[in-house]
Amino acid sequence: MALTQTQQFQPGMGLTTTKAPFIEVARSRGELYIEQPYELYSEENHEAWRRLYARIQERWQRYATEKFLEGVSKLCLDPNRVPRLDDVNQFLAPLTGFKAKAVSGYVPAYIFFDCLRRREFPTTITVRDINSLDYLPEPDIFHDIAGHVPMHTDKRFADTLVRFGEAAHTAARIVQEIKDPELQVQRIISITRALARFFWFTIEFGLMRGKNGELKVYGSGLLSSYGEIAHAIESPEVQRYPIQLEWVINQYFEIDHYQPLLFIVDSFDHLFDLVDQLERWMLEGKLNNVAPGEPTMSEEDIRSFLEAVVD
Ligand SMILES: [Fe+2]
Repeated sequence: MALTQTQQFQPGMGLTTTKAPFIEVARSRGELYIEQPYELYSEENHEAWRRLYARIQERWQRYATEKFLEGVSKLCLDPNRVPRLDDVNQFLAPLTGFKAKAVSGYVPAYIFFDCLRRREFPTTITVRDINSLDYLPEPDIFHDIAGHVPMHTDKRFADTLVRFGEAAHTAARIVQEIKDPELQVQRIISITRALARFFWFTIEFGLMRGKNGELKVYGSGLLSSYGEIAHAIESPEVQRYPIQLEWVINQYFEIDHYQPLLFIVDSFDHLFDLVDQLERWMLEGKLNNVAPGEPTMSEEDIRSFLEAVVD
């Protein structure tokens, strides 16, 4: 749809997932990092945020890890309006140095991890459609700001994200030293698949033991889903096991349904140590041939590792 300059960005026209001309234009220009054009949010976008935020409160109290609840209160999110990233960052940055950084959509794998290394979190600014609050295959601002960012107020968790970024940096260095182009691509795919699986089963869908041994949620995919946060803890059909790195890196996952398999860490110190171990395994070659299957790596993901600046 071609829009003229004046039609393009009317205040209040909406920044709704898959219906945001501002995002389409940014992407067509190749702009990954963008500003958050706050005036474009529609009243419907704010209402969607208000409903999502209101209904999940009781589930957070029941299922979320204490660190997450502390993070929510430290960020002072407005329950009624879509958050401004600048406001969020004013509370967040002094705590751990992390900042939410607006992006126009998918961030290629290396670039994503490299942002974490610099304590920047690529953040989607669109809001899911008010008519489909429950299911969304792609991230939106509720997932990124309400699901991820409260965890970034915790020092040990924030350090763990940085370790992920450092591990990706090590991966780029390893693959760039490989001379055979075919082997190079095969290595990128295997190592990145291991990293992505580990990220998925921890940062996105992780469970943790609470003080009294009870299970709590720290994974953002669960924390931003009204239905799945309860399913993850209550459903007898979900397999929940103490995390084992060798299992996680070889375990495929699918993104279009509730997760049937979840892994439990003891603490964020435990999680941090596992990222260390993952990087050691990478250096020893143990990630060179992980099991095939999801997630698949796009051309863009592969290129991001080849073009990474490593020193
Ligand atoms: Fe996420």
